[in-house]
Amino acid sequence: MSIKIHTGQILHFLSAVTHEYFPSGALVTEDGKVVTCGDKESLLARYPQADITDHGERLIMPGMIDSHVHYPQLDVIASYGEQLLDWLNNYTFPAENAFKDPETGRSTAQFFLNELLKNGTTTAMVYGTVHPQSVDAFFEQSSALNTRMLCGKVMMDRNAPEYLCDTAESSQTDSQALIDRWHKKGRQLYVVTPRFAITSTPEQLTAAGQLLKDNPDVYLQTHLAENKAEIAFVEELFPERKGYLDVYAHYGLLGPRSTFGHCVHLDDQDLKIMSDTGSRIAFCPTSNLFLGSGLFRLHHQPSPVSVSIASDVGGGTSLSMLQTLNEAYKICQLNGTSLSPLEAFYRVTLGNAESLLLDDRIGNFTPGKEADFIVLNPAGTPLMERRSGKCTSLEELLFCLMIMGDDRAVAATYVMGNCLWNAMTDNEAKP
Ligand code: GUN
Ligand code: ZN
Repeated sequence: MSIKIHTGQILHFLSAVTHEYFPSGALVTEDGKVVTCGDKESLLARYPQADITDHGERLIMPGMIDSHVHYPQLDVIASYGEQLLDWLNNYTFPAENAFKDPETGRSTAQFFLNELLKNGTTTAMVYGTVHPQSVDAFFEQSSALNTRMLCGKVMMDRNAPEYLCDTAESSQTDSQALIDRWHKKGRQLYVVTPRFAITSTPEQLTAAGQLLKDNPDVYLQTHLAENKAEIAFVEELFPERKGYLDVYAHYGLLGPRSTFGHCVHLDDQDLKIMSDTGSRIAFCPTSNLFLGSGLFRLHHQPSPVSVSIASDVGGGTSLSMLQTLNEAYKICQLNGTSLSPLEAFYRVTLGNAESLLLDDRIGNFTPGKEADFIVLNPAGTPLMERRSGKCTSLEELLFCLMIMGDDRAVAATYVMGNCLWNAMTDNEAKP
């Protein structure tokens, strides 16, 4: 296969505190993998036969990663007036019912993946609905695009409408069948997905723990300590446990492959347990603001816990990780800390890959990584063009992108070296 070179400004992260930036740079790929990146002149000379795509002054960066998002909730973004529990009951549960129809799953997954790519997101950890067919539909569409995606069937067997409930036993059987069908098939990865402690019986949480024991390399995702009324309800349902986190701990759900959405209201003792068990947090800024859940303290780390950043659509209000960073920055401001542009772009690329234990495959441009990358256009709108024209440093340009940017700042998205989205020419992502 031929070597391809993409020229432009290149930025990627080697760690939380180290990045490489080549203002006149090149990214070299071959067979969907990164060969190297560096200075344009020397790489063009080293690979004279390469097929060259010039992105001008635009910024070439690893694809962004969204660590917590619900694909079946596209139709409940911007649902008015409620906090978490009423929002779930009044808007979200009824909307998820439609996914009993596999065709709804297929068309929505296709639309959703197209939106992710258009927004520069190349990997996401995704919730399906309770219906196993919603996950089949998602993985079928993702496989067709060859995107690296993580997804799971929601397990929920109480405190929800009957039409949306499974049982402890059926949820275990259905999840296992999906694991057998999809986990590590191509780039697809399975996530055991008990919705949250409120909607699972002790028997179902036991089943979730058993799935993790039976399949040690799958993931787990759920929600934790998002909202005060939610926490009070969990304490009522599990009076024998020391608190919300202890419910998940008791059923064996903590660990490095487990990502807990929100965690807005964990105390320092909880954070110590999260840290000791290697458990992960997904910080969902647009959702926490929209649902009035609270201000997550990103930089409050009494014990080190891996925190990823996520959209949580449909509680969240945008699939754009740039817009997600915009709101994350503002939450940090309200907490009296600053989310620097370099930290922000580290987090939505390598940082999120590390949190999902995928940094050996995606997240930066070290040799051998899967060539998922994006081309950002700091002049995506006339106002952005005006503002970014005044920027005199990389940091300023990145800050402009994360505060003002959205899908209009994404010029192109590449998956395994292939262009799946080009803002100039495409209406939808092409497999
Ligand atoms: N807690 C349980 N289910 C959900 C959900 O779908 N969205 C959010 N934001 N929180 C939840
Ligand atoms: Zn969520």
